[in-house]
Amino acid sequence: MILSPDHARQLVAQHGSPLLLVSTNTLQQRYRILADLLSRVGLYYAVKSNPHPAVLKALAEAGSGFDVASEAELDAVLKYGVASERIIYTNPIKPMGAIGRLSEKGVATYFYDNDLELEKIARDCPGVRVILRINVINPNCVVDLGQKFGCHVSAAEPLLMKAIQLGLHPAGLSFHVGSQTSIPQPYADTISACKNIFNHMALQGLPLEVLDIGGGFPIPYKANTMPIDAFCKPIAAALDRYFPNTKIIAEPGRFISGPAAQLVTRVIGKETRNGIVWYYLDDGIYGSFSGCIFDHASYQFTSLNEGELRPCVLAGPTCDSFDIISSGEYLPPMEIGDILIAENMGAYTNASATTFNGIPLTKVVEIN
Ligand SMILES: Cc1ncc(COP(=O)(O)O)c(C=O)c1O
Repeated sequence: MILSPDHARQLVAQHGSPLLLVSTNTLQQRYRILADLLSRVGLYYAVKSNPHPAVLKALAEAGSGFDVASEAELDAVLKYGVASERIIYTNPIKPMGAIGRLSEKGVATYFYDNDLELEKIARDCPGVRVILRINVINPNCVVDLGQKFGCHVSAAEPLLMKAIQLGLHPAGLSFHVGSQTSIPQPYADTISACKNIFNHMALQGLPLEVLDIGGGFPIPYKANTMPIDAFCKPIAAALDRYFPNTKIIAEPGRFISGPAAQLVTRVIGKETRNGIVWYYLDDGIYGSFSGCIFDHASYQFTSLNEGELRPCVLAGPTCDSFDIISSGEYLPPMEIGDILIAENMGAYTNASATTFNGIPLTKVVEIN
């Protein structure tokens, strides 16, 4: 998404700042790029990465499925008229009492990775389809999910058998290699590990039907990433080799929503401390830059000013000394009121923002 300096100034004059500019065209393009490269894979956009109504609406129109992590996310997607068959609820740990309500709203498959969760599902929704999440240890990701979720591959068969003992229908396996994964190898390795489990189950007359390869597809922040076609090629090849006839789904979040938004923020204060210039911005880590903390993201900034690049610190607007966005930027000199733009701000930004210090959530403006 490219925003000209004049357009940025005009939007700030119209709406004030900070502003999160969301391009619904870009969202739909990103969905189509991945759908084309992984043509056998049904895509369920991970709502958690950006649940803004404009995002959900654009992706519903593009024909995407949706991956939700809570009842509130489910309700938000249902509001756009998305049929429940196009929605998966993948949170492996469900709140007490939630399964009954989720079932009434159309959730027909439940994810799990341990015995107690399975017993909860069997009690609250007898006979339902279940998908087992496999754990992935992947040092090539930025946001690790392998510590908190997924059973070891050696525990998979016993957990699938236990589902049968409890009268449930084990439908398949899922995994998530970790968010912002830099290379495709962890997908290919886990796909082949899943094939072993599918084979063992089939040999016992209990064939599995679906493989969910999760999310994790990378986007460039300060550092570049592999082009997505080169990234997807070995994944598609592993799926063709090991799962030519199995239904495959995925839950991409960041790849679709990340590049679809830019943040426009302004300098609200400036001081030189110990020889380095500090710029205080009108958005910070308790707001749209929450991804600096929760998502370990390091965003790329562009100033609308020209001039020699100088080292500086970017800090947020709260009274908290923790609210430092970046202490290693090189930017041209700026004054109060000047505009800075941060790229690739669509994933895990407004999604995890707070109103700490009474500072309101950043306004989201839809642009194309
Ligand atoms: C279960 C699940 N699915 C999908 C996603 C989306 O991952 P990504 O944004 O890396 O594509 C996440 C992210 O945390 C997740 O936990």
